[in-house]
Amino acid sequence: MEKCKKQLSVVILAAGLGTRMKSKFPKVVFEVAGEPMVSHVIRAVRELGPEKIIPVVGHSRELVMETIKRCHGDFPDIAFVTQLEQKGTGHALLQARAELLPDGYTMVLCGDTPLLTSAILKNLFEFHIGNDSSATVLTTFVKNSAGYGRIVRDEKGHLAAIIEERDASSEIKKINEINTGVYVFSNKHLLDALSKLQPNNDQHEYYLTDSIGILNSQGLKVMAFAETEDYLMMGINNRYELSIANKIMHERINKKHMLAGVTITDPAATYIDAGVMIANDVIIYPNTHIHGSTKIEIDCEIGPDSYIINSKIGPGTKVIGSVIEDSEVSANAKIGPYSHLRPGAKICESVHIGNYVEVKKSIIGKNSKANHLAYIGDAEIGENVNFSAGAITCNYDGVNKNRTKIGDNSFVGTNSSLVAPVEIGENALVGAGSVITKNVPPFALAFERNEQTIKSDYMKKRVLKKK
Ligand code: UD1
Ligand code: CA
Repeated sequence: MEKCKKQLSVVILAAGLGTRMKSKFPKVVFEVAGEPMVSHVIRAVRELGPEKIIPVVGHSRELVMETIKRCHGDFPDIAFVTQLEQKGTGHALLQARAELLPDGYTMVLCGDTPLLTSAILKNLFEFHIGNDSSATVLTTFVKNSAGYGRIVRDEKGHLAAIIEERDASSEIKKINEINTGVYVFSNKHLLDALSKLQPNNDQHEYYLTDSIGILNSQGLKVMAFAETEDYLMMGINNRYELSIANKIMHERINKKHMLAGVTITDPAATYIDAGVMIANDVIIYPNTHIHGSTKIEIDCEIGPDSYIINSKIGPGTKVIGSVIEDSEVSANAKIGPYSHLRPGAKICESVHIGNYVEVKKSIIGKNSKANHLAYIGDAEIGENVNFSAGAITCNYDGVNKNRTKIGDNSFVGTNSSLVAPVEIGENALVGAGSVITKNVPPFALAFERNEQTIKSDYMKKRVLKKK
């Protein structure tokens, strides 16, 4: 089998627009659980260890190629092929012929089947090799076969042909075994069959499916490999089907995490992307969305009501009702409720970020606290700092972004404005309500406010007047 894999090329048909998505974007870049459909397909294929992966691109090909490169890097095993005009699935495969090994095998699949698993593809390939078939079609049985190519078997039950819906008689339309659009071919017969395809059908296209009938008429062995879990083979054609695929994929991802030791209290209300990593003994509460390349370490509690993207959350940290984007949080921190960590926030160990606190591009040192109503932007805050309610770094003067630096053990009083660029030394105290525009030395007290005025008995006059 290992030897056979070395001779396997996988062609992924992704040149069509996907008209039924009704979008300016090509279908295969639509995401399922945070990953483009075509990328899911490539990931499943890559687990087979083929010699080459050949995406056939056409419509918006720059975007499709860029999407694949973003998800899979510039892998040397990926060779793009262009189909300039979409003249059918057979024509699409023909464009890749120069990339196919003369005595090898070609697996063909479409870029819009994100739920396909590598296990199914592996079984299909082994079946093909084991039976020494010239072509093997992956089929399944569905209740409603409308829109699919029907699998026609002869009286002995052998695969005879695939007939497209629009070319099918009413008898053939009744068949509920369908072509999933996944095939394995032995190359020594494939190229000849492809060259014999004719566009004599309703759409005037070169149908790859016709190659089955051609190989069969040449007396070569063609086979159908039927899979029972039809939903895994689902090709996404519109946004309703996209939503179904998302639901199934989220269930699959949640299950994987639960079996690996993550508690998810309500899986139906938890949305985790395919690329997210979560350690064991993490608890995830409902209405939590975890996206991109996020990594959550052991013993964290995340949610309810949280949104985390491309961030790292250290061990034992709790996040409640908060948004965290492109940020890093260390161990045993508490974030939320209602906190917003914007890109570039680096929150060190045991820090508390509380209600209505926004942090952007700032480092908050160990054990420091910003518990209520604060904005910290472009700042470097030391350890054990108390950043009180309503304190603000004034980082933007309308032209430039300026930095604020606060030393260890300092205390920034309520409602102070730190007008950057400014530095507060270690162990300093900023009095409540101050507008700080000059640096504060270590151990100093700085405050900026007018003397309080007292007018004795002032209110008595008013009270008497009212009477
Ligand atoms: C195709 C099959 C059908 C099968 C169904 C499964 C043919 C003729 N029919 O029908 O038997 O049941 O898939 O979903 O193959 N593509 C290109 N270039 C082209 C045409 C298509 O790259 O010129 C790509 C599309 O982007 C898509 C895939 O091939 O990813 C399938 O094409 P589509 O038009 O969706 O075929 P179906 O009509 O669904
Ligand atoms: Ca299709």
